Amino acid sequence: MRALTVVPDRVGSLRVQEVPDPVAGADELLVDGVALGICGTDREIAAGEYGWAPPGQDHLVLGHESLGRVRTAPPGSGFAPGDLVVGIVRRPDPVPCGACARGEFDMCRNGRYVERGIKQIDGYGSSVWVVPVDYAVKLDPALARVGVLMEPTTVVAKAWDQIERINNRAWFAPRTVLVTGAGPIGLLAALLGVQRGLDVHVLDRTSEGPKPTLVADLGATFHTGSALEVAERIDVDIVIEATGAPAVALQLMSLSNPGVLVCLTGVSSPGDDSGVDVGALNRNLVLDNALVFGSVNANRHHYQLAAQALAEADPAWLERLITRRLPLERAPEAFAAGDHADIKVVIDLEAN
Ligand code: BGC
Repeated sequence: MRALTVVPDRVGSLRVQEVPDPVAGADELLVDGVALGICGTDREIAAGEYGWAPPGQDHLVLGHESLGRVRTAPPGSGFAPGDLVVGIVRRPDPVPCGACARGEFDMCRNGRYVERGIKQIDGYGSSVWVVPVDYAVKLDPALARVGVLMEPTTVVAKAWDQIERINNRAWFAPRTVLVTGAGPIGLLAALLGVQRGLDVHVLDRTSEGPKPTLVADLGATFHTGSALEVAERIDVDIVIEATGAPAVALQLMSLSNPGVLVCLTGVSSPGDDSGVDVGALNRNLVLDNALVFGSVNANRHHYQLAAQALAEADPAWLERLITRRLPLERAPEAFAAGDHADIKVVIDLEAN
């Protein structure tokens, strides 16, 4: 079968090549790939900056934003041929740690988890793939065009779940949310904020392209300019940072709003040296009872929350997030720097 592969740490090794067909084990589904989403993590792996091949193999099949259709399913598994499915990204560590033992593998405490298409286990970027029944999630057939947005939606469903749990530390009745970054994560975070009845604001570097209209069509407000200035002006209660830009993250951490909660979801590259006044930062955080926390990945519960959020969203709005679809043979084009018009690039695994 054809697969999108990369040799981790080797720049320029991304290619589409022939790899052996997978064989489904007794507890696994055999799945025909429908679509694969490409995100910043995939681009980092392709750039040789992240990613690990499976033990004993030099290449990694890339891809963790999956969508497929079941070809065969074990009897009694609850799945049937033709079902639309998404595969969960992370697998618990083998120890397992306390979090993984409780199904909270997104919170793994020893870092020995593996992730499909990212860390030590092949991904979903192939025309056919297998997935254990326990790590497959069935989707409503109505989501065939947009179900590939499920994985990024799980990431924001987890972020919101964490925000709501943390909110219970004391009385808090948030009204205003600022999302920084109008990429897929930012826009989906905004969608889930609107679904909660909050006053949602989205900030991006540029007002070019489809982002301002997508934000307006959600019933949210679009901004450009300084994140700090916007956050202060709207008297923000919750911030979801989704640019991963160190300067933006730093501005938001220094925000002086009593009780503000800042959730960081953007993975930035190390090496930024901003000459931060840590004294001022520490003082603000303490005096405001402020809370800054990071959120990554998602467990099965968040997949359920995400499936519900997608089912309640306007499918036409979701489809507008997918700005380019490429056949597998042209997948490397998805890794070139996109323009302002690009939001989510998807590989169509069914096209020839
Ligand atoms: C994926 C997460 C993963 C993270 C770090 C993200 O792009 O969506 O599932 O945990 O990368 O590897």
